[in-house]
Amino acid sequence: MDDNTKNHSRVKHDASRTSRDHQYDQHDFLYSRKGPWPQPSPVHPWGESPAVIHVPLRERLDWWFWIGSRYLIYLLLTPYYAVKALMLRGLKPVSDSEFEQFFNQSMLVKFITSQLDDVDRDVFNGILQQEQQNWHIVDFQAVESVKPFKGIHVSATKTLLYQQGDRFKVRAIYIDATASVISPDDSGWALAKYFVLQGGALCSTLVTHPLQHFPFDSINAITKTALPKTHVLHQLLTPHMRFTLPLENAVLNYKSSLLQSKWYMVYAPYPGGPSGLRDLLVDGYKGIKGNLSYPPFSYQMDAPNVEGPYGIYLTRYYEVIFAFVKRVLHHVEPDDFWVAKWADYCHQHVKAFPASDKIFEGDTLARAVATYIFTVSVSHSVDHYSYGKFNKRQIPLRIRQSPPTASTSMKPRSQLVTWYDMMKYFMADRLFFSPTTITTLAESQYAFMDSEQQQAVEEFKTALLIAENELIERGVNYMPLDEIAASIQF
Ligand SMILES: [Fe+2]
Repeated sequence: MDDNTKNHSRVKHDASRTSRDHQYDQHDFLYSRKGPWPQPSPVHPWGESPAVIHVPLRERLDWWFWIGSRYLIYLLLTPYYAVKALMLRGLKPVSDSEFEQFFNQSMLVKFITSQLDDVDRDVFNGILQQEQQNWHIVDFQAVESVKPFKGIHVSATKTLLYQQGDRFKVRAIYIDATASVISPDDSGWALAKYFVLQGGALCSTLVTHPLQHFPFDSINAITKTALPKTHVLHQLLTPHMRFTLPLENAVLNYKSSLLQSKWYMVYAPYPGGPSGLRDLLVDGYKGIKGNLSYPPFSYQMDAPNVEGPYGIYLTRYYEVIFAFVKRVLHHVEPDDFWVAKWADYCHQHVKAFPASDKIFEGDTLARAVATYIFTVSVSHSVDHYSYGKFNKRQIPLRIRQSPPTASTSMKPRSQLVTWYDMMKYFMADRLFFSPTTITTLAESQYAFMDSEQQQAVEEFKTALLIAENELIERGVNYMPLDEIAASIQF
């Protein structure tokens, strides 16, 4: 029996033991080891990440009290958003510099890649042949899965950008529905920008953002059920698991979910029905074959590779969280029985999660755990915050004009969306897209008994404040620290 196991041992003669060497009984585990567990997604068993659909009553009540009930209260604001949508009719202009800002300053920077694939090179061949630049691409191909409602239009787009200094400049847009390459001087340009931004809204909320939610649910459930409550790893992850499982289950499986996209749902703003929307989740998780902009989901073991100031913000917090996790887990033995089991269970359900034969190599365990905490707190929260800052009249989810060619004239902006389209969008923004934080990362409470671990928590909180001050000084503080959530709770 190793030291770590001894530390967590209980001698209970009236209960069956975990094994001869591990003197735990069921009550040493949350929910008596009958807790949540991942299973194939009921809607798309092969296309979406494993789902956790049997959520303990205690967690569901906790979520209803703090979050679900808030949704009901916000529904009472429907008349307010109806009036707002009636008064602010139509879309707002998006200047070229504002359009570029979306790709330089906001969460949309995550879609920029320097990897142009064969299709990208083919559609922009004329420009690539004639102009020498450091080319990049933003590819919103995934939206072709959407089956739009009558009168609403969606098109896949590709946006060609080049890097000039530390900024990205936009050169041209390819509209897939009309097979048109459109440049800033063309009359179709203004409408083309809205289709790109629509693709950004759809791909942000339904392709990439879900990857910060659903694949991590398996780790949440496995940690709760497979680790003893007194294990340091359980204590480290506990503040970062609250509210999440009931939220995910509501989004994916409730009949009232905005993904059901019913016309009467005043908070359901998407342009098409549920089957197409779920296919966007599949594109994010499984990737799109042959498209380098859509690799399949794979558990990352390092800071995210994101361009520009948004990347600086993310990396700075990743470093703080990684240092904290590494210190707390420093004393975990390299053959810890429970961590080995936990890693193997996670490996079975989360693609590229290190199994027990790898988890103790170097700082693999710290990296795996840091990725979880960083993703469900900073990375997830700032995505919502950045999206919440968008003027929804500039980044539409619904467009009521067919996709342009280079010579298309755009309808008046007041006719590109209806007031009901925008009311739904404003409501969804208030209920789901903009963050509403209940428990914060900066005030996370850990149940550590060890004084060294308690000290690590204090220093972690100080390090978070130092990181925020540095980011403020650099002018890249995307989200205030005291609004970053401790877990996925929106
Ligand atoms: Fe989210």
